[in-house]
Formats: sequence, C-alpha cells, structure tokens
Amino acid sequence: MATKILVTGGTGYIGSHTTVELQNAGYEVVIIDNLSNSNIEVLDGIEAITGKRPEFMEGDITDMNTVRELFTRFPGIKGIINFAASKAVGESVQKPLLYYRNNLVGLLNLLEAMPEFGVEGIVFSSSCTVYGEPDVNPIDETAPIKPATSPYGNTKQISEEIITDFIHSGAPIKSILLRYFNPVGAHPSSLIGELPNGVPNNLIPYLTQAAAGIRKELTVFGDDYNTPDGSCIRDFIDVVDLAKAHVTAMRRMLDKKDTDPVEIFNLGTGRGLSVLELIESFERSTGVKVPYKIGARREGDIEKIWAEPTKANTVLGWKAEVPIDDTMRNAWAWQCRLGKK
Ligand code: NAD
Ligand code: UFG
Repeated sequence: MATKILVTGGTGYIGSHTTVELQNAGYEVVIIDNLSNSNIEVLDGIEAITGKRPEFMEGDITDMNTVRELFTRFPGIKGIINFAASKAVGESVQKPLLYYRNNLVGLLNLLEAMPEFGVEGIVFSSSCTVYGEPDVNPIDETAPIKPATSPYGNTKQISEEIITDFIHSGAPIKSILLRYFNPVGAHPSSLIGELPNGVPNNLIPYLTQAAAGIRKELTVFGDDYNTPDGSCIRDFIDVVDLAKAHVTAMRRMLDKKDTDPVEIFNLGTGRGLSVLELIESFERSTGVKVPYKIGARREGDIEKIWAEPTKANTVLGWKAEVPIDDTMRNAWAWQCRLGKK
C-alpha cells in the first residue's frame, strides 16, 4: 500500500511542486490548505501533470479541531511536510502577531497531534535566512545562527528550536529541517508555478511581470555592494529540484532506522549568482529584454549568500540539477500562461 503523506500548504508554490514529485514517486498525498495564498485550481494542474488528484481538505492548521478532524478523516498518515506558513518578510514587520500565530501555532498543533495519530516524521520548510549575513560563503549547516532580522525569520528559527526540543524530550517522532536558499522557476509543463499576490516582493515574479509589461520596470536594489558587479548574490534553486529534495528527505526519514532523529540540510545549488547575472540569464535564455533600472539598496538585504550543499549531496543523496537558463525559461513560460499586458 502506498505511504500516505500530509502536505500542509500543498496548493502553494513549493507545496504544489512537491505534491507532484511525491505522487510521481508513488506516495499518496493528502493536502490541507486554507487557500489564504493559493487557489483550488492548483489541484487541476497537479492532476493534469500526474494523472492523479491528491486528497484535499480546506482548513486552517492553527485550529486544533481542524487538525484532529483531518487526521481522523484521513487515517494512516505516516509523514508530514509542513509548508503552511505566511512568508512575506516586509508584512511580518508590520503584522508580527499574525506571523507568530500562523507560523508557530500551526506547527505546535501538528507536533501535538503526531504521536496521537501515529505520524512518524515531519519535514519542515526552513530558510537560509537563519544564517543572516554569513561570515563566509558558501555557508554550511554548522554556521552560526544569527539574530533574526524580521518576525518571519524569527518564526523559522523558533520553529527549528520547537521541533528540536520536542524530539529531545523523547517524543516518538523524527524530523528533517530543510533550509531553502532562493526557490525560483516553475514546473516545465507550465501547469503550476508561483502565484504572486499583488505587487511581488521577490525578484523573479517582479522580473517576469516587468518583462511581460505588467510592471513598468524592475528596480535592481543596489549596485554598490562588495560583489564583482555590485549587485547582491543569491543561490537560486529551481523549484522542481527543491521539490525532489523533499521526496528524498521523506524517504530517508521514514525508511532509514539508523538516522539521527533531527537532521538539518541546506538546499541550494552551491552557485552564487548576482541579481544582474540572473537578469542576463533570463534575457539570454528567453530572448526577452527585461526593462530595469538601478535603484537604492533595500533595507535589511543580505549582501551575499550561497549554499555549501555537500551534506545534502552526500548524506541525503540529492543534488540540484536544472541549469539556471532552463529555470528562467520555465519562469517565463509560466508568466506567459498567467498573462502579459
Ligand atoms: P506559499 O504561500 O505559496 O504556500 C504556502 C501555502 O500555505 C499557501 O497555499 C497558503 O494558502 C497556505 N497556508 C498558510 N497558512 C496556512 C494555515 N494556517 N493553514 C493552512 N494553510 C495555510 O509559499 P511557498 O513559497 O510555497 O513557501 C512554502 C514554505 O516554504 C513556507 O513555510 C515558507 O516560509 C518556506 N520558504 C519559502 C521560501 C521562498 O522563497 N518561497 C524560502 C524559504 C522558505
Ligand atoms: N531584488 C531586486 N529587485 C526586486 C526584488 C528583489 O533587486 O524587485 C533583489 C534583492 O535586493 C535581493 C535579490 O533580488 O538581492 C533576491 O531578493 P528576493 O526578495 O527575491 O529574495 P531574498 O533573498 O531577499 O529572500 C527570499 C525570501 C525569504 C527567504 C529567503 C531565503 O523572500 O523569505 O529568500 O530563502 F527567507
């Protein structure tokens, strides 16, 4: 019988791509999502790609009754991937309580329910934001955690601690904490992708909307950083590569008996690309010009960060593979599907 996995936030950007990869790998997926930052049509995209519609319950994981109802309605769930969270850094500064409540109470409810319903493990979506501005690059998992610069970032640090403390207390569960670098792109089918809400904060949705004429121009936030071309450097990782890492992590967590109960992996490519290099890659791979100007630095931005992914490569047995130009082509194809001006 197929192993049943709960994907919270499964109609969201990374959750939908991960659901596709889980189903392709033979897992049975149950999604819970409150549709606060996604829509139900995403299920059609997942079904069109995989030939299978995941089970879906609309609901909010910050409500314990809903969580209990979910595990009762779908018995036998063995593992959870917890994507459900609010993720806008700027908004978290304006509305800290909303972020602490949504990101932490949801996690607490899942953890509390896990032993009760016999769920063996949880994969958690963390972020390289926990490293702050690194002292050295590439950065590995042993690097110090820096004080968070936003309530959002703080929820990731606290969540990692909550999970670790719970397991150290003897809770009968395992966990893998995945620290994502910068997920970008869309499924090559263009049937699922990122659905930005309002004016995008992140680079790629803004870039593709500017290329599509929806925004006048992209502003590159600063060209006077201490980097070769002066713009910030990130480790942009293709969302399908990222999704596949979750399948590998789930398999390791549930099937290998001798692993540590809490493990941490960086999920990145190991390649730092500047904002200007990314624009170049987009233009080269799509033949489409990006209207852009250089603007002031954005407050709170990290100058440069990219991953040392060796632990994920060797211990987890996963490696990012999609070339950046393919990722940019997929991002553009997805934008064309969403629409141009
Ligand atoms: P997303 O907003 O596209 O997906 C999150 C999904 O969770 C949405 O569909 C939303 O409706 C749902 N959701 C939110 N709160 C919920 C709740 N209380 N109950 C049920 N559903 C809820 O975001 P994403 O980019 O797919 O990110 C997924 C996870 O990865 C998040 O935890 C995010 O913090 C983390 N992460 C994302 C990035 C990134 O750049 N996208 C980087 C690092 C970490
Ligand atoms: N950028 C621009 N113009 C824009 C948007 C972004 O120049 O319009 C630049 C930023 O200054 C930064 C780079 O593009 O140098 C990437 O910015 P994003 O906002 O796309 O991503 P961040 O690295 O700032 O942060 C993202 C998520 C965080 C997450 C982090 C690590 O927003 O939630 O990646 O995973 F924690």
